[in-house]
Amino acid sequence: MIRKIGILTSGGDSPGMNAAVVSVARCAAAHGIQLMGIKRGYNGLLGLSENPEDDIAALDLETVLDIADQRGTFLRTARCDEFKKPEVQRQCANNLRKLGIDALVVIGGDGSFNGAMHLSELGIPCVGIPGTIDNDLGYTEATLGYDTAVNVCVEAVRSIRATSRSHDRPAVVQVMGRNAGDIAMKTAMATGAEMVVVPEMDWDVDVLAARLNGLIAKGNTRATLIIGEHCWHKMKEFDWRKFLNDNGKVVYPGEPINAERLASILKRKCGGIEARATVIGYTQRGAQATAQDSAFAFEAGHLAVQLLNRGITNQAIGIRHGRVFNMPFADALMMKKHFDRETYELINSL
Ligand code: ADP
Ligand code: F6P
Repeated sequence: MIRKIGILTSGGDSPGMNAAVVSVARCAAAHGIQLMGIKRGYNGLLGLSENPEDDIAALDLETVLDIADQRGTFLRTARCDEFKKPEVQRQCANNLRKLGIDALVVIGGDGSFNGAMHLSELGIPCVGIPGTIDNDLGYTEATLGYDTAVNVCVEAVRSIRATSRSHDRPAVVQVMGRNAGDIAMKTAMATGAEMVVVPEMDWDVDVLAARLNGLIAKGNTRATLIIGEHCWHKMKEFDWRKFLNDNGKVVYPGEPINAERLASILKRKCGGIEARATVIGYTQRGAQATAQDSAFAFEAGHLAVQLLNRGITNQAIGIRHGRVFNMPFADALMMKKHFDRETYELINSL
């Protein structure tokens, strides 16, 4: 019988995390279950703060009802390397037992789910809600925050294109996503971008430049290239520092490649056209959750409480064909993410 549930958000904040907390709080209240908010991811379980309320505090309905529409995460979030140590996990499980917390809802990405899986193995029933903008979990069609992040990027690209069109300038737009190109791909599709580069696929600056030159030759002087932030390790070897230094742009040894330098390279390989770069940063995480993410949060929070109440634990919640479902953490984390190569090739060829 579950009487007290703990809830935490972990990893990068993502739109919809607060809505999920509210949903869990409402369902817990409906079942007469007390909810405890754990602050700053797994850090809150370590019991290091002078004031215990800075780590774990009761989350009654009155406290959380107003946070659904707030951005970021009310519970705060963090990355907690300490928690990767088995002895620290054991200590955290003991702390939860001492506080009478019977079960835990973890909102985060695959790293956070790994932590939850370890706690489950130590006898703490856990359920995970996939909260990350990256959409990098193979078992679910979407993660909480992904839809919002894509919408932010789409809006940004549309604005950038106004200037691209006005000035006849190609745009290089960098989006987040860590090692997953989902945000980049969906943004490219939704905006009709002519080129996309993702961390899943090898790419070559010369091929990109040839493609841009081809577009310019056909009169497209305002093409958009979307790049996933961690695409650089897949770039075909090329002495870009030498190339830029030889072509009038000073680059010092040790300076890393980035979106701005890629735009400079393309300019120099494409007849001097003023390619310009924009990096879309944390606006992707700090936006107001879309209806799709908010509804997912509502359903996922409800399912999380239902599962814990029925004693079905060690589960990751996901979304498939528009409906929430659950599967064991271990199976969920083993599922490889499919990369849509066909669409990738289509975007880069039309
Ligand atoms: P995400 O959850 O978005 O993937 P991270 O990979 O940064 O983000 O992980 C968030 C946190 O989850 C880490 O700071 C750590 O506290 C915990 N975590 C990550 N990997 C593990 C692991 N293998 N075992 C236990 N805890 C982990
Ligand atoms: O996981 C979400 C994410 O925004 C990634 O897209 C990005 O690589 C990373 O977090 C950035 O992390 P930080 O919060 O440390 O800047």
